[in-house]
Amino acid sequence: MTEITANWAAAHMPRTARAVAALPDMTGVRLAMSMHLDMKMLPLVKGLAGRGAELFVTTCNPATVRNEVVDAMRAAGARVDAYKNMPEDDWMTAIRTGLDWQPTHLCEMGSDFTHMLLSEGMDMPPIRAGLEATGSGINRLKGALPPWPIFNWDDLPVKEGLHNRHMVGLTTWNAFFTRTLLSLHEKNVLVVGYGSVGQGLAASARAFGGTVMVAEVDPARLLQARYDGFLAGSVPDVAPLADVIVTGTGAHHVVPYSVIEDLKDGCFLLNAGHRIDEIELSPLAGLEKVDALPAVTTYRLVSGNSIHLFVNGAMANLVGGEGDSLNAFDMTLAVMAEGIGHIVGAGEDAASGVHLLPRSVWERACA
Ligand SMILES: NC(=O)c1ccc[n+]([C@@H]2O[C@H](COP(=O)([O-])OP(=O)(O)OC[C@H]3O[C@@H](n4cnc5c(N)ncnc54)[C@H](O)[C@@H]3O)[C@@H](O)[C@H]2O)c1
Repeated sequence: MTEITANWAAAHMPRTARAVAALPDMTGVRLAMSMHLDMKMLPLVKGLAGRGAELFVTTCNPATVRNEVVDAMRAAGARVDAYKNMPEDDWMTAIRTGLDWQPTHLCEMGSDFTHMLLSEGMDMPPIRAGLEATGSGINRLKGALPPWPIFNWDDLPVKEGLHNRHMVGLTTWNAFFTRTLLSLHEKNVLVVGYGSVGQGLAASARAFGGTVMVAEVDPARLLQARYDGFLAGSVPDVAPLADVIVTGTGAHHVVPYSVIEDLKDGCFLLNAGHRIDEIELSPLAGLEKVDALPAVTTYRLVSGNSIHLFVNGAMANLVGGEGDSLNAFDMTLAVMAEGIGHIVGAGEDAASGVHLLPRSVWERACA
C-alpha cells in the first residue's frame, strides 16, 4: 500500500478519526507498541504522535511487516525497530530495546514485551498500564502476571465478534483466490480451531462453495461445529479427506508433520492464526520443493504426493493479502484508540491483573 492509499485509508476510517480526535494530551506518555505493521495502522500512529506521545514501535510478527509502513511510521515521528522477515534474534532484540527505552505504557498483540519482562526477570520499566489485542497474548499471560493492569480487548463483542468472526475468513479466502487463481468449489476444506476465527473461516468457506469440515480439541466447540452442520472430528481423523486445510488456533503444531505425511495429493496448507508454527514446518525443509507461484511453495512428500504451502505458513490474510477492509478495520482501530485513551487515563488506577476493556470505553466507537 502506498502513501496515496494511506490517505484513502484515513478518509475511509471515520470512527478511527473520531476516536483519535478524542484522545487526551499524551505529553509524557512513552508508549511501546508491538503490532502488525500494516498501513491501516498509520492514522492511529499519526494521531498518537500528534497528541504528544513518544512512540516505540516493533512488530508482533516479522512476516507481516511492510517496510513501507515502517518508513511511514518513522516519518510520523515514531521510533520503529522492525523490518520484513527480521530473524527471531533481531526481533527479540527489538523487544528488549523497547523495554530498555523505559515505556510508561504497553500496547501489544501477542504479549511479547510482557512475556520477556516476566520470563527474563528484567528490571521493571515504569509501566503504568497495558493493552492486549490477541487471544494468543491473553493465553500467554495465564499463570504469571506483571504488577500493572492489562486490558484485554480481544474478547470484546466488537473485536472477536466482528474482526475475528467476520473479517479473517473473508480476507483469508480472498487472498487464497487471488494468489492461487483457484476457488473452493468441489474442495473439502478443513478448518482447524472453532473459535471466532475458525467459525468465520468455516462459514465463509461454505459460502464460497467449499465442503467444510472442522477439527477442534475443545469438546463444546466440536459440538457447536456439528450443530452448525459441519463434519467435525480430530485433525488426524479428518485431515486425510481435505483438499485445503486452514489453521486458526493460536496453538503450536496443530497440524503435525505426522499428519502432513498422509495428506491427499495437491492439498493446500494455510494458516490464519497468530503463530507461524501452527503447521509443523521444519521437517518440510528436507523435502524436494518448488516455488510454484509467488505465494505457493509445493513440496514432494515421501509418499509421492505433493502439498502446497501458502505464504510459508505465515498469516494468510495479512501476508498473502491486504487484511481487513478499511471500513471493517475502522471499528477495530477505533476500539484500539479508545483503549489507549483508557490506559493513559483512568485505566492506570485499576488493580494489577487482566481486565476486559470496559464497555463504557469501547461503546462510543460503535456509533
Ligand atoms: N489472521 C488474522 O487477521 C487474525 C485476526 C484475529 C485473530 N487471529 C488469531 O487467530 C487465532 C484464533 O483466534 P480466536 O479468536 O478464534 O481464538 P480462540 O482461542 O477463541 O479459538 C481457538 C480455538 O482453537 C482450538 N484449538 C487449540 N488447539 C487446537 C488443536 N490442536 N486442534 C484443534 N483445535 C485447537 C481451541 O480449542 C479454540 O477453540 C489466534 O492466534 C488469534 O491471535 C488472527
